[in-house]
Amino acid sequence: MSASLADARDLDVAIQHLTQGELVAFPTETVYGLGADARNARAVAELYARKGRPQFNPLICHVASLDQARQIGLFNPSAALLANTFWPGPLTLVVPRRAECSVAPLACAGLPTIAIRVPNHPLAQALLQGCDFPIAAPSANRSGRLSPTSADHVREDFPDIHLLDGGRCTIGLESSVIGCLDDAPMWLRAGGIARADIERVLGRTLSLPPQEAEHQAKLAPGRLARHYAPAHQLVITDLPAAPSDALIYMGQKLAQHEGPSFNLSASENLAEAASNLYEALHQMDRQLTQPHARIIVRPIHDAGLGEAIMDRLQRAQVSHAQ
Ligand code: TXA
Ligand code: MG
Repeated sequence: MSASLADARDLDVAIQHLTQGELVAFPTETVYGLGADARNARAVAELYARKGRPQFNPLICHVASLDQARQIGLFNPSAALLANTFWPGPLTLVVPRRAECSVAPLACAGLPTIAIRVPNHPLAQALLQGCDFPIAAPSANRSGRLSPTSADHVREDFPDIHLLDGGRCTIGLESSVIGCLDDAPMWLRAGGIARADIERVLGRTLSLPPQEAEHQAKLAPGRLARHYAPAHQLVITDLPAAPSDALIYMGQKLAQHEGPSFNLSASENLAEAASNLYEALHQMDRQLTQPHARIIVRPIHDAGLGEAIMDRLQRAQVSHAQ
């Protein structure tokens, strides 16, 4: 059971911890974040260490408003348009760092660019407004583990870190990440806003990052990192599941299945499916008892939020094979 939701005192303690260079876990509408004062190199180093995250993979800096974002990054017309349309919300913009940017270079992995997001969750907003600095925050899971969409998920990985409990995350998938470094905005990570919605606002298609590793290291370093793999093998397939397997599916058509199962959305609503995805993986992994049992996932149509759902599932499938 969750402890009670955060109150004003928890918030004050969180602001105090962050100001003193300590880490705090907090809810956003996408997933929970593990935050540090982005200007404080020691706190940021501690964040990488506690997460077990490679230091080549930079962090997102969270701020309360576009005005604050403009103090640390340079916004070209596309970036300004996207920020004005989708902030606060599940969108991260990668833009050039300002020369006078106060964020510790380590938070950006030494890159000349910076990832910025204005989250929409009331507790995240209250926290950011209470701090007069950007908060660097990756998802609040240890590297290679599942992103947390509830306070209990965070407690499993970081029982000793001060946590603001905001209940379950409504979106449940990480933010979409768009690079706005030149005239061609780039789709760096599928997430809580569908690609087509972003393209409609821009009036053009997004470009994709080049596949060569040297470019990826600079433009999309997250793609080189290891990703979540469940303890059990995950397979995306329409083939029948064995009775010992777990089944994750969507809609009404569950064929007879004796093992554990999870319906992401009975009405095939992709937003609902996205919000349930990590909880489903979490539960199925826990409920399987035999080591060779598998988590079978029925493929989801790769459009709208389905793209981000399939992206996370495919990474989980491949990570296990590595
Ligand atoms: O929804 C979210 O985005 C959550 C909440 C807490 O805001 N955060 C999150 O952070 O998912 P994280 O660290 O798990 O993912 C950040 C992604 C990584 O793929 C990272 O490589 C990318 O953003 N990123 C950060 N800075 C970048 C930069 N300068 N250039 C390109 N990609 C960058
Ligand atoms: Mg993450």
